[in-house]
This record gives sequence, structure tokens and C-alpha cells, in this order.
Amino acid sequence: MNHAKLCVLSSRCKLANGPECNRQCPHYISLHGYSGTGGRISNAGTPADYRLLSLANSPARESQSRVYATLEKYCATFDRQFEDGADRIKSLYLWSESPGTGKTTTAIAVLNEWITAHYLGALRRNRQPSQTPAVFLDTNAFQTDYNLATMTNDDEAMANIKSTILRVQVAPYAVLDDIGVRSASEAFRSYVHAIINHRTANGLPTVFTSNLPIEEMAVVFDQRLYDRIRDQCAVLAFSGTSKRGRR
Ligand SMILES: Nc1ncnc2c1ncn2[C@@H]1O[C@H](COP(=O)(O)OP(=O)(O)OP(=O)(O)O)[C@@H](O)[C@H]1O
Ligand SMILES: [Mg+2]
Repeated sequence: MNHAKLCVLSSRCKLANGPECNRQCPHYISLHGYSGTGGRISNAGTPADYRLLSLANSPARESQSRVYATLEKYCATFDRQFEDGADRIKSLYLWSESPGTGKTTTAIAVLNEWITAHYLGALRRNRQPSQTPAVFLDTNAFQTDYNLATMTNDDEAMANIKSTILRVQVAPYAVLDDIGVRSASEAFRSYVHAIINHRTANGLPTVFTSNLPIEEMAVVFDQRLYDRIRDQCAVLAFSGTSKRGRR
């Protein structure tokens, strides 16, 4: 297999497809790790299938062309992370009532763009790139883990929940996938609230995905948090019906 197809940097890399494009490449290792462990893309905690996604190769790009045109411009603002006093990098709220329109796919494509912009931007400025420039939180899976941890009274599992909360609170960039599920318990919702509150209070950009219009966040959380979520946030609606399983 062509090694360049295994690396998220390949479209921007001069060495792609050449003899030096292999698993020993230090940049490949920085992004994708060594022997399947580590690397900034894997550190984000995205599902393995999504690790090479970018805006350019996203399967949702064609049918959500308006959203992607906006996102191209949005991702071009990522270099502001290195500029003191620059305008804040906005958050995103990607939503559609219909499932399977490409929200999660797109959120992860944007997250990968952030990681590569951070990595390449830091190198260009002779800075040390963060080991975890961005994190992905699957809110549903997190809720399942939380329910299981409380049900079984498992201290270690609860400690993991706590460390996830702290990790997502402070990450320079984060995707909170599927927020605002109405059926969440009060206790669980308060944890998600704490994550969002910390990130918005500190001006940390976040990509939210949801099946509810942003106004509903005032009901799911509260008016104050809703105000914070929509502050400096671009709302992008995904059109159409479910494309799941069509590939
Ligand atoms: N616009 C699209 N064109 C082609 N394939 C798509 C499109 N949108 C999604 N897909 C495919 O459908 C599947 C589901 O996409 P994804 O998980 O991103 O949807 P979602 O909007 O997050 O759904 P949900 O609301 O259920 O969370 C994926 O395999 C993705 O590749
Ligand atoms: Mg989704």
C-alpha cells in the first residue's frame, strides 16, 4: 500500500510518495504514533476509521457543499492560535434534526485540520507542538461509561470519568459530539455543563454536534450556558436525510 495514504499530512507534505514516506518518518510518528500507539491524532480519541479524514476528503463534502465552503474559511483562521491578541477562534455548532447527515464526520475532519494546523504551525515557529492539541468526546459513549461506573460503584471507572472531564475542559480544541440529549440524567448533564462552562469561560474553541437546534440548549442546560455556547459560535445546519450505510 502507498504509505502516503496512511498519513494525515500527505496532502501538504513534500516527501509524500517518495522513498522517505514511511512509518519511520518523524512527522508520521508525531501524528500517528509508532506501532499503533501514541501520536497526536490518536491522542484525540477519535474512532480509528476517522483518523485520516480532512475537509478535502470528507464523504460529506459534496452534499454539504455550503457548509464545507464556510468551513474552508473557518479552518483558515486556525493560525490565530499562534498570534497573541488575535481575534478569538470561533466555536461551531453543527446540527440537523435528521441523523446521518455527516455532522460527526465533519466535526472530526475539522478536528484533524486543527491538529495538523497546530503541528505544522508550531514547527514553523520553532515551538514544541502540544501532545494533545485537540480531543474528541463522544457524549453518548461517555454517558454510558458514566452510568456503568455509578451503577457498579467502580472507583477506578469514576476516576477515569473525572480525568476525561479534566482533559476535555482544558484541551486547546475539542469536539463534543452529540450534546444535548434530552434524556440525560441530571447528574450526567451537570458534568457536560461543567465541561462546556470551563471551555467557554476560557475562550477555548469547541465544535458541538447536535440533533437539536441551538435554542434548545437553553432547555437542556440553562439560559446562562446557552448564552455562552452561542457566543462567538457559528451555527451550521446540515441538510438532507440520512446517508448512513450508503457508502
Ligand atoms: N453527506 C454525506 N454524503 C455521503 N456520506 C455521508 C454523508 N453524511 C454522512 N455520510 C456517511 O454516513 C455515515 C454517518 O455519518 P455521521 O456519523 O457523520 O452522521 P451524523 O450526522 O453525525 O449522524 P447522527 O445524527 O446519527 O449522529 C458515515 O459513514 C458517513 O461517512
Ligand atoms: Mg453523529
